[in-house]
Amino acid sequence: MTKLFRNGHIFAALSNRCKYSTAPKSICTLHINDKEYQSDNFTNATPKIISYLGRNLHLQKGHPLSNVRQRIVDYFYKSFTHRGNPTFSVYDNLSPIVSVKQNFDDLLIPLDHPSRAKSDCYYLNKETLFRAHMTAHQSELLHAGLDNFLMIGDVYRRDEIDSTHFPVFHQVDAVRSQRKEELFVDHPDLQIFEPIFDPQYPEAFTNSTTDAHKQSCHTLEATKLMENQLKTHLLGLVQTLFGNDIRYRWVEAYFPFTHPSWELEIYYENQWMEVLGCGIVRNEILARAGPNNSIAYAFGLGLERLAMALYKIPDIRLMWSNDSGFLNQFNNKDVNAKITYKPVSIYPQCVNDISFWLPNNITVDTFINNDFYDLVRDIGGDIIEQVKLKDKFIHPKTKKHSLCYTIVYRHLERTLTKAEVNAIHKEIEKAITDSYDVVIR
Ligand code: PHE
Repeated sequence: MTKLFRNGHIFAALSNRCKYSTAPKSICTLHINDKEYQSDNFTNATPKIISYLGRNLHLQKGHPLSNVRQRIVDYFYKSFTHRGNPTFSVYDNLSPIVSVKQNFDDLLIPLDHPSRAKSDCYYLNKETLFRAHMTAHQSELLHAGLDNFLMIGDVYRRDEIDSTHFPVFHQVDAVRSQRKEELFVDHPDLQIFEPIFDPQYPEAFTNSTTDAHKQSCHTLEATKLMENQLKTHLLGLVQTLFGNDIRYRWVEAYFPFTHPSWELEIYYENQWMEVLGCGIVRNEILARAGPNNSIAYAFGLGLERLAMALYKIPDIRLMWSNDSGFLNQFNNKDVNAKITYKPVSIYPQCVNDISFWLPNNITVDTFINNDFYDLVRDIGGDIIEQVKLKDKFIHPKTKKHSLCYTIVYRHLERTLTKAEVNAIHKEIEKAITDSYDVVIR
């Protein structure tokens, strides 16, 4: 995704336009991503929501959502290969601004379906919205000729903000298609389609979903085999993430774009939690996209829920935190590491840098960071949340070496005063000067 306006800027662009334009007051132009959107009576995207565009938490290295995304991608890469190459291709950079056609029409979502309501989505105008699910890209990617792919990104839904709901969250969506030769390798006599259906002329057949077990165009064998693959693959994924002991159950579900459909629930914190929706792709969608020679399954899962359960993160808002006390619990670790989130103090951090010139016999590369960390901890004790090397510097003329560290102070039970922190910081400066003969800059 190309660069977006940042928080305040988009608001400025929006309100100035509205103020100075000659158009009626209620109409203005929204500038996002170098594109212009004319507002109308559907427009309900707020500056706050627009400000989340481009955060891309799912791509932020070391972020819990990115770690879970990586584990899911790894699972699909490892489990499905064709002549040594991964079967699935991954799209994690698709623009979150989509058309009503992409988000709803192409997926056979009825015109009166509640998910289209202004009260549920963030619209830029009546034709354009922030995608409400990653499935919004399914049709176009099928149309481009893809048959096995993952779509990963941020989705937007109007919702209350509490510990498990946030108007922006992240999904992994997928399609896996199988042609007759792939699905029935061992049974070349079996068919994907019923004899009454001619895949060459799909429009001549009214495909129905009245039978709970299958779409009318599909054979029961093809549907059952796909259902079995779908459930095996998704259970395999959940067990890879949570271990083989995870309690789970399949629940029948309804989605306008799949039939039959299911949801997978896992047992977490004494209750069943839905983690994904899935089903057999409605053949109308496949038939519109290209040669109608396959059957496909699709699924969509929420990254926040998985990450919260996996790492025991109690509040979804933490996902948006820039607090190093949160991020560093996940950063720089193996993505498969078993991590249990430890609550960070609710009291504010106090950040202070310290820079010093090293004596001539020590260089920026021979100075032992850990020594410094210990010294800081010895003096600051429990209020030291973090110490990080910020900068190494060699003066071009004097050739003197210098280091700079960032020290993050935070008390677990109360707010530290600036004076208190400064006093400890001074003590650290004195101690490092005394023990290493450095000169504070
Ligand atoms: N798009 C659905 C959702 O957001 C999930 C889903 C994807 C269900 C693909 C079935 C198939 O809830």
